[in-house]
Amino acid sequence: MRKLIVLKLGGSIITNKQEPLSFNRDVVLRIGGELKSIWPTPMIIVHGGGSFGHPIAEAYGIKKGYQKAEQLKGFVETVSAMRKLNDLVVSALNDVDLPVIGIPPSCTVTTNSGDIETCNFDPIFSALEIGLVPVMYGDAVFDRKLKFTILSGDALASYIAMRLKAKQLIFLVDVDGVYGFDRKTSQRFLIEELTEKIHMSLKYEPIEGDVTGGMFYKVEEALAAARHGIDVYIINGLVPGRVEAVIKGQKVVGTRVKVA
Ligand code: IPE
Repeated sequence: MRKLIVLKLGGSIITNKQEPLSFNRDVVLRIGGELKSIWPTPMIIVHGGGSFGHPIAEAYGIKKGYQKAEQLKGFVETVSAMRKLNDLVVSALNDVDLPVIGIPPSCTVTTNSGDIETCNFDPIFSALEIGLVPVMYGDAVFDRKLKFTILSGDALASYIAMRLKAKQLIFLVDVDGVYGFDRKTSQRFLIEELTEKIHMSLKYEPIEGDVTGGMFYKVEEALAAARHGIDVYIINGLVPGRVEAVIKGQKVVGTRVKVA
């Protein structure tokens, strides 16, 4: 029976994207409290890079891979900044008594031209088996072709959800979901059910300072998981109660991503 829940905490909610290395502990504590209320449910948390990962990765061009020796400093600094953020997330979640453990993707995942090629599931399974929630994240990782690159938390969350046949994949972001634009009324509207066809018809705005591509790529990852029969949602992680409600199967404001 499908039980596993995979949650992606967007960097835009757990950090302040305007200020380098700023952690929103209150948001993580609140989300942790909501997750605690559904505990024990098998769960894997993946978080984004926000103001810890993106600025350094962008400054050194880490996503495009190894081009010159000076980038090595940036690769190592990105890994180290993401470990710091992971430590902050893990300690906040432990403070609300959610038993979590950080698992660094830089040591457990490799990619090939940006796509995940290997992922060591042993520590993930071992943690789940004894009731610990693995907390992974978007990270700088080794890549067979590029030598190194940036793996987004969205791609990792979707990959894990598909490989482990999760029940739900929930992306927590700083807006209510995915928006469409009505040309007749010039109004934006929340798309409650986003299919592949609607996705292809949307115009997504690029986000400055985001090395992994913003909402368009998030929806691509979401659709990949939906094609594997996973219930996928993109909801606002800054509004109290929504995470808990969506996990409990209640109707919430947000976007459900469906194949058709
Ligand atoms: C990016 O991960 C990780 C790094 C830049 C090192 P994500 O792409 O998942 O991060 P957010 O959620 O957009 O901040």
